[in-house]
Amino acid sequence: MDRYVSVKDIEQAALSLLPKGARDYYKSGATDEQTLAENKLAFQRLRIRPKCLVGVERCDLRTRALGSEVSMPVGISPTAMQRMAHPEGELANARAAQEAGTIFTLSTIATSSIEEVAKAAPTATKWFQLYIYNDREVTRNLVRRAEIAGFKAIALTVDTPLFGIRRADVRNKFTLPPHLRLANFDGHLSTKIQSTDGGSGLNKYVENLFDKSLTWDEVKWLKSITSLPIIAKGVLRGDDAVKAIEAGCSAILVSNHGARQLDGVPASIEALPEIVEAVKGYNVEVYLDGGVLTGTDVFKAIALGAKMVFVGRPALWGLTVGGQAGVKRMLDIFRTELEYTLQIAGTPTIADITRDMVRHESAYSKL
Ligand code: GLV
Repeated sequence: MDRYVSVKDIEQAALSLLPKGARDYYKSGATDEQTLAENKLAFQRLRIRPKCLVGVERCDLRTRALGSEVSMPVGISPTAMQRMAHPEGELANARAAQEAGTIFTLSTIATSSIEEVAKAAPTATKWFQLYIYNDREVTRNLVRRAEIAGFKAIALTVDTPLFGIRRADVRNKFTLPPHLRLANFDGHLSTKIQSTDGGSGLNKYVENLFDKSLTWDEVKWLKSITSLPIIAKGVLRGDDAVKAIEAGCSAILVSNHGARQLDGVPASIEALPEIVEAVKGYNVEVYLDGGVLTGTDVFKAIALGAKMVFVGRPALWGLTVGGQAGVKRMLDIFRTELEYTLQIAGTPTIADITRDMVRHESAYSKL
């Protein structure tokens, strides 16, 4: 795996290896993909203000999220159907997170089940991403199984009354390859996604089964059926972050769903400051995903108030190029880059990364 020295290297290799249907599904954003590009570009508009001669011989990347210690503030975001990238899919991804000492988040629409992942990575800190299905018994069952299997939090997706328009999936009439199954539904619902003449089979699946009538009241319902902390995943507004907290969430994951839901929304890193400001005074953690590609991106998100960042596509690219070893390589690249950043920026621990370490490029534009 040593030939990959950046996350972009891994991405490029993966894109050349994946079959078209899976590649397009993983890489697409909504409609014109403006936000997909902005998720990355917005990081480049931020400048790091390093401090000199502060003594950085004791560099420490460790932090905590919802009470669990992690070896660095980079975890794995949920992405669906990972066995399209590698035969071991979610199992390999979870094992890599375990090896790296960080968090793995399993998608509801995974190709490995909650129990299979728990068995594959027993000591990893595992979170479960939840979609609320029309059938509340199906939903309740998922949550109960995640609890029994030792998952430590529920990341409730709050930005998805339906899936966004991903044009490549429409063109490809995307569906799950027939040799794979939606493994969390064995014995409960169909484990297949029917193809449809009208476009993306996956979008049709979601339209048929996800509950479009959800409001913040469902978070209260979710709280009543689980003792696990709930993370609101997909928040882009300060007022929604406050609603999430009032409904009982313990954390906010600032995310535009990999720019896959609605084009024209802010980059995740652009939305972060508004949310950090809105939740001041509440005892909640804020995380971010979307467009994170380098150690300096991680640093910038932490400076703007994120406790941790999560990466989705980079793990899919890692899986594609080398299963568990590929994901581990991707995480190691983040670790190395972040270590360098902390030392050269003069902030040897995560707690040292304060708001003043980063400025928007416009602050320098008078030059
Ligand atoms: C799944 O959550 C997707 O965005 O396709």
